[in-house]
Amino acid sequence: MARSSAYPLFLISSILFISHIYASQVEAKPPVVKGLSYSFYSKTCPKLESIVRKHLKKVFKDDNGQAPALLRIFFHDCFVQGCDGSLLLDGSPSERDQPANGGIRTEALQTIDDIRAIIHKECGRIVSCADITVLAARDSVFLTGGPDYAVPLGRRDGLSFSTSGTSDLPKPFNTTGVTLDAFAAKNFDVTDVVALSGAHTFGRAHCGTFFNRLSPLDPNMDKTLAKQLQSTCPDANSGNTVNLDIRTPTVFDNKYYLDLMNRQGVFTSDQDLLNDKRTKGLVNAFALNQTLFFEKFVDATIKLSQLDVLTGNQGEIRGKCNVVNARKSLLTSVVEEVVQLVDQF
Ligand code: HEM
Ligand SMILES: *[C@@H]1O[C@H](CO)[C@@H](O)[C@H](O)[C@H]1NC(C)=O
Ligand SMILES: *[C@@H]1O[C@H](CO)[C@@H](O)[C@H](O)[C@H]1NC(C)=O
Repeated sequence: MARSSAYPLFLISSILFISHIYASQVEAKPPVVKGLSYSFYSKTCPKLESIVRKHLKKVFKDDNGQAPALLRIFFHDCFVQGCDGSLLLDGSPSERDQPANGGIRTEALQTIDDIRAIIHKECGRIVSCADITVLAARDSVFLTGGPDYAVPLGRRDGLSFSTSGTSDLPKPFNTTGVTLDAFAAKNFDVTDVVALSGAHTFGRAHCGTFFNRLSPLDPNMDKTLAKQLQSTCPDANSGNTVNLDIRTPTVFDNKYYLDLMNRQGVFTSDQDLLNDKRTKGLVNAFALNQTLFFEKFVDATIKLSQLDVLTGNQGEIRGKCNVVNARKSLLTSVVEEVVQLVDQF
């Protein structure tokens, strides 16, 4: 008797279990762009991902601010001219020097090139700085408490940067409608935008990026937060910084959304997500369900990581992340061709 009732129960629960696994496997993931793949370096540089993770674990132990720094670098690289390493390039002025890139941490840029040096020593010059930037951002999320996820690889490094392209980047002073438009221009929907904004669950902001809300004081800001921000920021040009998430400033979690629900978002662009009809429901949902936030963040991030990528024989694999490789001069190329011709005879 006991056996005959236990058996169907077991059967039912295992069917449920199997269908659960199946459902999570077939769940729609963002499509992979042509030329990229999840196994791009599996034969040519099998240790790539473990080397990146191991190095970052060490880096974050000394300086956990590099985790948010690397995630922001990834976003700002991808949003301007695609994920092509353009933000990493030196110039006078460089893409990096533009106001929208204020606060980019140079030590995190150095970390990307440090990883490149280790990888190129291990595998040769076959992994792009653009791919390393994407992997470093992924590990920044995971190593600070966020989800782990696979990213498509095979990006090539660009040969140029764009100073004017930085106008594509969203602004902290803008309200939700403007932010949604900036992202819609690159095919991101409302869910993507609210989920990606959750990246402000860690890291810092300089006074000038939110001073607009302090004078006059934004009535939509919690008084306790306002006091903290005012005491750190005597004026907009102060070089001081505050935490973006007052609850858990160094952890990748869903507390950012709880901040917003308590009017403790730092930027206008953050706090207004709770005011706009299109985004308010998602803020609530992510505040209540971290699993849901992580799921939507991963989908949007994989999408972001594939924006306007160079693949195949486009671009190059940089030998150093901050400079394009030396081009052969026209004279060198002509001489080489003549030598080849002569060799044929
Ligand atoms: C939605 C529109 C967004 C606006 C207006 C915005 C704006 C800003 C601004 C002004 C800062 C402060 C920089 C500083 O003063 O040092 C910042 C920091 C940051 N942003 Fe965003 N951002 C947006 C979306 C994103 C996205 C999509 C990501 C990544 C997926 C991201 C990741 C970060 C991180 C991690 C930091 C902290 C950086 C650090 O600590 O060095 N942001 N953002
Ligand atoms: C968005 O922010 C920028 C920079 O502060 C400002 O110049 C622009 O007018 C804002 N756009 C709107 C529609 O408010
Ligand atoms: C939270 O979101 C996950 C992922 O979408 C979902 O499976 C789960 O049922 C949600 N939990 C609750 C309590 O709603």
